[in-house]
Amino acid sequence: MSKETWTAVDTYLAATIAPSDDALDAALEASARAGLPAIHVSPPQGRFLMLLARACGARRILEIGTLGAYSTIWLARALPREGRLVTLESEPRHAEVARSNLVRAGLDAIVEIRLGRAAETLAALVQAGGAPFDFIFIDADKVGYPEYLRRALELSRPGTVIVADNVVRNGAVADPASTDASVQAVRRMNEIIAAERRLDATVLQTVGSKGYDGFAMMIVRDDSGIA
Ligand code: SAH
Ligand code: DHB
Ligand code: MG
Repeated sequence: MSKETWTAVDTYLAATIAPSDDALDAALEASARAGLPAIHVSPPQGRFLMLLARACGARRILEIGTLGAYSTIWLARALPREGRLVTLESEPRHAEVARSNLVRAGLDAIVEIRLGRAAETLAALVQAGGAPFDFIFIDADKVGYPEYLRRALELSRPGTVIVADNVVRNGAVADPASTDASVQAVRRMNEIIAAERRLDATVLQTVGSKGYDGFAMMIVRDDSGIA
């Protein structure tokens, strides 16, 4: 089984139950033309994020790592008209491409791009003390994941859904001796999750046009339940 097969299935899915559209295609084309790295989520994964955000009735979404706003467009489409999405990006050039992609998708009125290193923009969001987010997607530099998760918890309420991308990394996450700083950071995040009694969590492995990777999914516990 190879990436060729996984990609063929993604192509089949795009032709059947997970179609793309002009705004999404244009966002990817403009991102490629601007020389952004093609590390966005795959189309079926983007659709999965939209479905998850809609399933939890999200009205306020936070994204950490915008790139060209491909995942942002999917997530913003889960929102009701009065919903809001804040997305954090440190590269001005990425933010610029993202902004024009969001305008083209007709989503610029509900999406706010905050430029800066996520460690700082997250601290500012916590400091501002606004309403908690209903759905948080962590997808910026992997070395920052342990800190982003801690901040995500501060910006959550019981019931908030938190998803982190790229937590399997071709299987490297299972190697305790890995010398890759990203792998070590994802492993540290998993230890934090395991020790965090406020979180119910799992990791789902994924294959597709983006290779072999995975999503961590967490729900902030509501201690009124019996589970
Ligand atoms: N979510 C996007 C992909 C994000 S790629 C999608 O699926 O479509 C990761 C992005 O995080 C890149 O644009 C990168 O510039 C940004 N990034 C890297 N380090 C960052 C940091 N410290 N703070 C904020 N953004 C960062
Ligand atoms: C990388 C980052 C991502 O968010 C992703 O989905 C794939 C790869 C990276 O930094 O290599
Ligand atoms: Mg990613």
